[in-house]
Amino acid sequence: MELRHLRYFVAVAEEKSFTRAAERLHIAQPPLSRQIQQLEEDLGVVLIEKGVRPLRLTEAGAFFLAHAKPLLDQVHDLRTMTQRVGKVERTLSIGFVASTLYGLLPDMIRRFRERHPEVEVLLHEMTTVEQLRALKEGRIDVGFGRLKSEDPSIRRILLREERMVVALYPGHRLAGGEGGLRLRELIHEPLLVYPKAPRPSFADQVLAAFSEANLAPDHVQEVRELQIAMGLVAAGQGIAIVPESVQGMHHRHVVYRELLDKHAFSPILFSVRHMDRSPELENMLAAVYSVYDDLGIPRAKESL
Ligand code: BEZ
Repeated sequence: MELRHLRYFVAVAEEKSFTRAAERLHIAQPPLSRQIQQLEEDLGVVLIEKGVRPLRLTEAGAFFLAHAKPLLDQVHDLRTMTQRVGKVERTLSIGFVASTLYGLLPDMIRRFRERHPEVEVLLHEMTTVEQLRALKEGRIDVGFGRLKSEDPSIRRILLREERMVVALYPGHRLAGGEGGLRLRELIHEPLLVYPKAPRPSFADQVLAAFSEANLAPDHVQEVRELQIAMGLVAAGQGIAIVPESVQGMHHRHVVYRELLDKHAFSPILFSVRHMDRSPELENMLAAVYSVYDDLGIPRAKESL
């Protein structure tokens, strides 16, 4: 059994069609069918039910698919990693969610650069879901995101849980006042959530904070990104719930109030490819923790 047999079989199983799989693989259909036949002969079992439309896997086929996919992911990681190890000049490509840029990310990047001037740091703004794809495709080496998604090829470390705050325009009836606000005081306010896509996203974390408190906001408007939400808040179109780092944005027409609910926290996660043990990653993590230590921020205890 060769790797190409695995790739071909996974394509056929995912596309549920030999024609579409052949197109995806850029090969003709007869050689593809021959390869699958060879694979079945080699294993001595039937993987795809004969004469059934739409195409259906046998029990053995479903088992093979479930194990072939992680194997192919591992081969892909091995390739990316080997290329990375073999590179003479060092680079570290970092994906980050926009909110971290207004908080501690710049301090952490500066700390890393001071300690490791030989490493070129590249920064890419992307959502957590986009970071996971970019990690697997080797476009980034580290992701700083907010979703605790399960993916066996990704190693994640929970850095901390960040408090959420409410962003309002200064003339809003809830903008003044002492102390923080509770989610139940916000349910009748037009709520701006971001990003609209890809999901799940920070928008779902905000909505989950309401539902965990047994609440549902009356009006929810989904917007493309953080900056749009803040612009609309400044225009008096609604309120937004954001991580407290966003206060670093210093918008002239936006004020912030703390959220007191116990569910109003958003995690910050450090994600890397499972097999990637390059020193740059450990050094980046050390830079993160060194900024936390300077600011007296406790590290999360939970390890994911
Ligand atoms: C933080 O705010 O804790 C943070 C921001 C960017 C990267 C890592 C951590």
